[in-house]
Amino acid sequence: VPSFDLALRYPASGTLCRIRVARGGLSGLGPWTKRTTGAHRVAVVSDHHVSALFGESAVRGLRRSGIDAALVTVPAGERTKSVLHLERLWRQFSEIGLVRSDAIVAMGGGVVGDLAGFAAATWLRGVPWVNVPTSVVAQVDSAIGGKTAIDVAGGKNLAGSFHQPAGVLIDPDALVTLPDREFRAGLAEVVKTGMAVDAGLFRWLERHAGHVLAREPDALLEIVRRAVRAKSRVVIGDEREREAGGRTALNFGHTVGHGLESVFGLRRLRHGEAVAIGMHVAAILSASVAGLPLAEQERLDALLERLGLPIAIPPGVRVAVLGAAIRRDKKRDRSGTRWVLTPRVGHASVPRLISGRRVRAALCEAGAWA
Ligand SMILES: NC(=O)c1ccc[n+]([C@@H]2O[C@H](COP(=O)([O-])OP(=O)(O)OC[C@H]3O[C@@H](n4cnc5c(N)ncnc54)[C@H](O)[C@@H]3O)[C@@H](O)[C@H]2O)c1
Ligand SMILES: [Zn+2]
Repeated sequence: VPSFDLALRYPASGTLCRIRVARGGLSGLGPWTKRTTGAHRVAVVSDHHVSALFGESAVRGLRRSGIDAALVTVPAGERTKSVLHLERLWRQFSEIGLVRSDAIVAMGGGVVGDLAGFAAATWLRGVPWVNVPTSVVAQVDSAIGGKTAIDVAGGKNLAGSFHQPAGVLIDPDALVTLPDREFRAGLAEVVKTGMAVDAGLFRWLERHAGHVLAREPDALLEIVRRAVRAKSRVVIGDEREREAGGRTALNFGHTVGHGLESVFGLRRLRHGEAVAIGMHVAAILSASVAGLPLAEQERLDALLERLGLPIAIPPGVRVAVLGAAIRRDKKRDRSGTRWVLTPRVGHASVPRLISGRRVRAALCEAGAWA
């Protein structure tokens, strides 16, 4: 079985995170959990969709390895990343009697990873956890890097922690059951990583978009493997996302993306769709102030459209409203919004301030109403 293993040793914290990308990898969850955590008991946290698909076989696999496993299911959807569900998890860990030498297994999309990861960071001041991402977003992006969080009234991901999983087990075969829109939206994060830090990944996706969209198993394995490798290279040197650290490159497209999500309230657009539009805007700005060649700007737009992702700001969004939402984003610092620009495919520059006039012009060019 083709598989790919990576051991990330973070110099900053000294933690070790083992990553395996393998077709059919889910069937090895028991041995993998044992090897990476040494736990004899685990709580498997999953959402209703994923638990119905893979929950039972995961629990069976863990038990076959002599691990006492309890399945804990949460509702699917972003609203589950809440203090309410965090508290429910804590209560269930307490009922199960989860101790420091036990572990948590998060199995699902980015929502489950963020929630269960934060629960692992906080339960008994931190227990080991294994992340088993099952969505594109989770496999190519959120499972790597150790960020965990929940949403609070003031915004997304405002309460959280850096807590590296001991193991990440990625089975690209799991992606075949993902709804089409989720699948495509997730690919926006791959485009982002390619555009910001890995020209080879970008080119590979350009060449193989058809195979990826058809979800050919080997194409899925390859795209996930490449994205994981690219993100790993970035986070290893900037574990805590320092100001102007390498990790900020991965916010490419997210400035406008988050602005759109706050204008639309997370419902109308998938996160990846908002990021696709955000990348289109960031590329317009990159062309106007960072020297991105027109041909490369067009490559980005063409790839996004090929993947069935939107690039234009939906009709009716006013520049002033979107501009205000962008200025409220938590990633701004006191001096203003810092934009990640790409002078070339595969290269991002240090985030920088851009004049309001240029930003407004780019938003208009992307379809916002004056
Ligand atoms: N921690 C990080 O670094 C990081 C990075 C990016 C995104 N995120 C977070 O990730 C979340 C988005 O993640 P997401 O897009 O995976 O959302 P999600 O977890 O809600 O999953 C999307 C949908 O797909 C379903 N699903 C997942 N895997 C499936 C499968 N194999 N088959 C069928 N259905 C499946 C889920 O049940 C859900 O309905 C956001 O909350 C975002 O903030 C975190
Ligand atoms: Zn994102």
